[in-house]
Amino acid sequence: MATYLVTGANRGIGLEFCQQLKERGNEVIATCRSSTKELDEIGVRIETDVDITSGESVLKLVQEIRGMKIDVLIQNAGILEKNSLSNLDPESIRRQFEVNALSPLCFTRAMLNNLTKGSKVILMTSRMGSIDDNCSGSSYGYRMSKVALCMAGKSLSIDLRPMGVSVALLHPGLVSTRMTGFSPHGISPKQSVSGLLERIDSLTIENSGTFWHANGDTLAW
Ligand SMILES: NC(=O)c1ccc[n+]([C@@H]2O[C@H](COP(=O)([O-])OP(=O)(O)OC[C@H]3O[C@@H](n4cnc5c(N)ncnc54)[C@H](OP(=O)(O)O)[C@@H]3O)[C@@H](O)[C@H]2O)c1
Repeated sequence: MATYLVTGANRGIGLEFCQQLKERGNEVIATCRSSTKELDEIGVRIETDVDITSGESVLKLVQEIRGMKIDVLIQNAGILEKNSLSNLDPESIRRQFEVNALSPLCFTRAMLNNLTKGSKVILMTSRMGSIDDNCSGSSYGYRMSKVALCMAGKSLSIDLRPMGVSVALLHPGLVSTRMTGFSPHGISPKQSVSGLLERIDSLTIENSGTFWHANGDTLAW
């Protein structure tokens, strides 16, 4: 039975990952800052007080799971704050860099002792972090942080290859969650996660370092 660790597991896409992984019979370690009734009801192992920007809380998690093999590390936690040119709040941009780019990189490093040959690292990025796809501008903090995450993921795919650990950069589609104001144009977390799990299942050391849409399309950087 494979073990999956999911960050930002208390709601949205992370919650749905836990639901579907549990249904598939996987072992799930759901990490979050604070749990929710919905997460409690799934019946997976929950680790609370895990703020990915806090070295102290990540270290506590590392101690909790010492010696456990993680087959798939799903780094899903992220934030979206609006920054246009007329509303350029540098603190907000720094915050998005910290949560969306720097923390997943540091979190991966903190988990290295739990990864072995065949393990997979999943970074939940966004098509908004594709320079090629940017035809609407704005969203400075989110776009800049996700493009930085893509670059971190590409480097990780190269650096972890000798260990036999593969890395994927995944875009979930436009998904109806709190992040998107439960957009009526978005797909459901259920539909998104079922596509994301197909991508994760098909990730190998040979195709490591690819940027995929949940629907299977390869995205341009
Ligand atoms: N929804 C979309 O259309 C879409 C599109 C492209 C990419 N994505 C990406 O997909 C991922 C999940 O998005 P979502 O739509 O599910 O968003 P969401 O519903 O807003 O959920 C975000 C999750 O991240 C957690 N989180 C935020 N900051 C954290 C921190 N410092 N430490 C630990 N957890 C933290 C939140 O926990 P709290 O409850 O504690 O705040 C929550 O569990 C994100 O990385 C997002 O950028 C989403």
